[in-house]
Amino acid sequence: MSKAQKPQTASRFRIPWLPGQHPKAGKDNTYPFRATTDNGVMSLADIIGTTAANQVEASNQLTFHSVGDTGRGSHTPQQDTAEAMARDVDPKKHATSPAFLFHLGDVIYGDGKENLYDDEFYRPYAAYPNKIIAIPGNHDGDVGVTVDTTSLKAFEDNFCSPIGTEPPLAKTFSNEMVHQPGVYWMLETKLLNLIGLYSNAAEDFGTLGDANVGTQQLEWLAQTLSNIATQRKGKTRKTRKALIIGMHHPPYARGLSDKGYGHGSSDAMRQQMDTAFDKAGVWPDLVLSGHAHSYQRYERVKGLNGGNKKIPYIVAGTGGYAIQPAPSGIGTTEGDTTYKNGSPPKGLMQAGQPNTGYGYLTITVTQTNIKVVFVIVQGNHRQPFETINTPLK
Ligand SMILES: [Fe+2]
Repeated sequence: MSKAQKPQTASRFRIPWLPGQHPKAGKDNTYPFRATTDNGVMSLADIIGTTAANQVEASNQLTFHSVGDTGRGSHTPQQDTAEAMARDVDPKKHATSPAFLFHLGDVIYGDGKENLYDDEFYRPYAAYPNKIIAIPGNHDGDVGVTVDTTSLKAFEDNFCSPIGTEPPLAKTFSNEMVHQPGVYWMLETKLLNLIGLYSNAAEDFGTLGDANVGTQQLEWLAQTLSNIATQRKGKTRKTRKALIIGMHHPPYARGLSDKGYGHGSSDAMRQQMDTAFDKAGVWPDLVLSGHAHSYQRYERVKGLNGGNKKIPYIVAGTGGYAIQPAPSGIGTTEGDTTYKNGSPPKGLMQAGQPNTGYGYLTITVTQTNIKVVFVIVQGNHRQPFETINTPLK
């Protein structure tokens, strides 16, 4: 054998074992990420085009889907959920149908994410017609030794491609993707400010920024909330825009410590958010998250301006990946927050092969109210689990 033909390593096997490849380097690692561009602001027209955006805005309501934790594949509950959402979209009444899907992160699970966008994203969503905007989850930010060596690259390639280009796999599936300004952003519509935040790549906690990963997102959030505060000056309670904020890691959640799985609250991240809200004097009307693979609804009662503001904090990591029972303890209160409801209840879970409890949120914003419906999906069937109305006060 000539020198040129010799293998680079004297490996016994075709696939050599690389220390640190599986599992990836540290499940609670966090990584720097790039700052959003163009102030991080998108308009509805940036997502669905000017004509459709004008028609939606003229209807005086905005409806959209939201869910997280989906990267499973075709012919799985992910596809069932995608097809159930697709049935909500009526092309003849598109202006009042859900206008887009806001994905709450964990689009892709596993190694080699760039390629997995085929099986875990474009293929299972083939029948879902709406544009999809997203924030990354921890699994989208994962870093590997031989693949996924740059955190968030596959996510940014697919969700943040430059205007005028399409991601290669999107072209393969004849999909048009949105060109997000970054992994955190604000969508500003006539009725709503929708902020998406990136809570980084750790499994056990979320963070919006620190000395290691950078503080650009926290600075951007402070500035963006301050801009909203300015925008609200002179507005009455009935003429201000709604504010919805989403991030992958739940500010409130209860793990299932008796089972050894599930995810708890990200207390430090929630404190980062609270500090920003307090400083700007602007609190959200609704907070969305995923990460825990169940539906959990919390109600926070926040004393503000001499009154009490009830803020729903909803976990909806139910989009198709490994459903888990909702934690017990519904109705219990800790501090200013009550765990109001959860799904699926443990009694519905089938031992060894849980398939009940997947679903998605449909959110409708008007000038005076936010309506959230959690819709349960099982196979071809879907039914509302509960509807929550939050008057905009
Ligand atoms: Fe996650």
